[in-house]
Amino acid sequence: MAPPASHALIELEGVHKAFDRPVLRGVDLRVAEGTTCVLLGKSGSGKTVLLKTVIGLLKPDQGRVWVDGDEVGALSAPGLTLMHAKLGILFQAGALFDSLSVFDNVAFPLRERTRAGPAEVRRRVRAALDSMGLGAVERLFPAELSGGMKKRVAFARALVLEPRIVLYDEPTAGLDPPTTARVADLIVDAKKRLGLTALATIYDVPTAFRVADRLALLDEGRIVAEGTPDEVRRSAHPAVRAFLHRWLEREAERAPAGGG
Ligand SMILES: Nc1ncnc2c1ncn2[C@@H]1O[C@H](COP(=O)(O)OP(=O)(O)OP(=O)(O)O)[C@@H](O)[C@H]1O
Ligand SMILES: [Mg+2]
Repeated sequence: MAPPASHALIELEGVHKAFDRPVLRGVDLRVAEGTTCVLLGKSGSGKTVLLKTVIGLLKPDQGRVWVDGDEVGALSAPGLTLMHAKLGILFQAGALFDSLSVFDNVAFPLRERTRAGPAEVRRRVRAALDSMGLGAVERLFPAELSGGMKKRVAFARALVLEPRIVLYDEPTAGLDPPTTARVADLIVDAKKRLGLTALATIYDVPTAFRVADRLALLDEGRIVAEGTPDEVRRSAHPAVRAFLHRWLEREAERAPAGGG
């Protein structure tokens, strides 16, 4: 069945998902082509669960999800594989294969999902690594890299197939402020360079506001506020105010007293 509206590359309608308790309780969300939407929400609110329903890793109990016009729940296994080929995915945990070099990590999707020969694999991996400023480390292994370099390798791998759509789950978690800023630049650059449509979860609020075209707040299982960064910043919605307030308080606790 056709999606209810056009030109959204990712769309969720009435998505419910419960485990031992309800997590998603009727999520509606559209991500328009060429835009970055950042999902906000407290820890445990279901952001990762939502991303997993988009890629078909979790099946909604109710509701529907479309990716580039295909209803995810209606796809056969080969259809899902084709859909995954359009997607770049950057998950927080287990991002890299520890036993593979940087080069082989980035080559992995090309070798698995395309018929590219060795020369083409080399060309595309080198281009992806160069775009992340990683040309010099292709022979190293993940254990030999800093956290920020690992993230950039994971980026290169997520984007090496030049996907139209990318999902980022906490791409800046655990990074120091300069590396966080660098990754934010990568997200913005990749969108411009590849015309990407992106759905991201980003815990760091300033980074979220910086990279997002639209922000959506997941609260009590639903998207309770959605809009441009300016609209969300000015929103009077109690859940938005509470979320931003909580974040400011936590930052104040972390910052040294009297600083800056
Ligand atoms: N496979 C699963 N089986 C059972 N419960 C799960 C499963 N996946 C997630 N949950 C539960 O769903 C809820 C939402 O988890 P989720 O990981 O989506 O939160 P989140 O918003 O991504 O949090 P964080 O900001 O900490 O990453 C949690 O209570 C979690 O324990
Ligand atoms: Mg999560």
